Amino acid sequence: MPVRVIGLSGSPHRHGNTERLLDAFLAGAEEGGGDVEKVVLKDLSYTPCRGCNACHKTGECIVRDDAIPLFDRILSSDCLAVASPIYSMGITAELKGLIDRAQFLWARKFILKTMYFSDDHVRRHKGIFISTAGLSWDNVFDAAFPAVTAFFNTLGFEYYDNIIANNMDQYGGIQGHPTALAEARKKGLSVVGVIRKLKGDS
Ligand SMILES: Cc1cc2nc3c(=O)[nH]c(=O)nc-3n(C[C@H](O)[C@H](O)[C@H](O)COP(=O)(O)O)c2cc1C
Repeated sequence: MPVRVIGLSGSPHRHGNTERLLDAFLAGAEEGGGDVEKVVLKDLSYTPCRGCNACHKTGECIVRDDAIPLFDRILSSDCLAVASPIYSMGITAELKGLIDRAQFLWARKFILKTMYFSDDHVRRHKGIFISTAGLSWDNVFDAAFPAVTAFFNTLGFEYYDNIIANNMDQYGGIQGHPTALAEARKKGLSVVGVIRKLKGDS
């Protein structure tokens, strides 16, 4: 059984610091034998959540756009890597917009109780948050973590690890960082091995 890895690139800036960090992670995952897919959110067409709450009754989102098939692909993945640069001390609009659109899955889980992830399922599904920031502040990623936690929780992924690099302004971009790209590649390789073992396919 292949280990399916999906990476969501939430930066509007193509091939910038964050997407390159995601690419390094995905390259490592592929090297480890993972079946890898990258999705560039800015190239998809989806609207923010309307807050109509129809999903609280039906478990379905009434807005039929690119977000819906993407959630199918995410739910059939073993590893979900979510990448966003820090914008105004949080995640980008592209990523937050998608996270909010998962509300119909949240409704299935917590209101309708038609969807359930066992502890074992969650343990076998790993979520990784990938981010870069311009500032050197230690707390620059802090506002991003809760939204990412909520996303992984709704989708049945264990929040497994962060791959984060601050101080991009001083480093002159991710290529100037001494360890981040190599660390991302190593973590991609490693997580696929961990998941394969958990799936009993070592
Ligand atoms: C609109 C915007 C807002 C930003 N806000 C912050 C911020 O609040 N804190 C910070 O450390 N860096 C901030 N940055 C810098 C980016 O986080 C940083 O340059 C990042 O590495 C860009 O990643 P990218 O190349 O993938 O777009 C901001 C950049 C932009 C374009």
